Amino acid sequence: MVPLRKKPRIMPSILSADFANLQTAIEKVPSSDAIHVDVMDNHFVPNLTLGLPVVESLREATDKILDIHLMIEQPDRWAPAYAEVGAESVTFHIEATAAPVRLARELRSLGARAAMALKPTTPIEPYEDLLPELDMVLIMTVEPGFGSQSFLDLCLPKIARTRAMLDKVGGDIWLQIDGGVSVETIERCAAAGVDSFVAGSSVFGATDPDAMVGKLRELAAAAT
Ligand code: DX5
Ligand code: ZN
Repeated sequence: MVPLRKKPRIMPSILSADFANLQTAIEKVPSSDAIHVDVMDNHFVPNLTLGLPVVESLREATDKILDIHLMIEQPDRWAPAYAEVGAESVTFHIEATAAPVRLARELRSLGARAAMALKPTTPIEPYEDLLPELDMVLIMTVEPGFGSQSFLDLCLPKIARTRAMLDKVGGDIWLQIDGGVSVETIERCAAAGVDSFVAGSSVFGATDPDAMVGKLRELAAAAT
């Protein structure tokens, strides 16, 4: 029997919003399940966005769940501060992390959900034993660094394998994807077992961003 999963979560990425008006951008997606915030340091990825001071201001500006995606070097050193300022979820890239067990435990002890991200060609298999230490796994479906890139279908088998591993572990570990999520791609990802979807350009590029959040959720739910 296929296990029943909860309602899909749609998490708009403000990378595709107007950086001079982030509060307004967040207010455009009231029905979203979280706000995805991309922190890039121009070292782990070839792009530079925002950091802790902006996240602190976003914390003041909204009660929505803040889902922080750290595309930075040395997350062991920097990630806990995002939990300390009140972000509910903090995601580190495994490729950049020196001590993932210690970091995940530290994030959880600070009250945040601990999440691990994998670039498109980073395998999940070496991290199976780490899964019980996590609250979410993020599988990148584009090379991290920029919005508006094309979805990489080559990630789908890894998504399905990760879903199977998470079902084996049990509990409530979310499976998130990020990159190229749209009305064209969301159904096959939901069918492969994704429950949490980051969407940047498809949401903030839409005439009615909140209606797009609803549309994406509906398509994912029907395909799950
Ligand atoms: C890219 C970022 C994404 C980005 C996705 O590295 O992590 O969160 O905003 O943008 P879209 O949805 O346009 O592919
Ligand atoms: Zn992201």
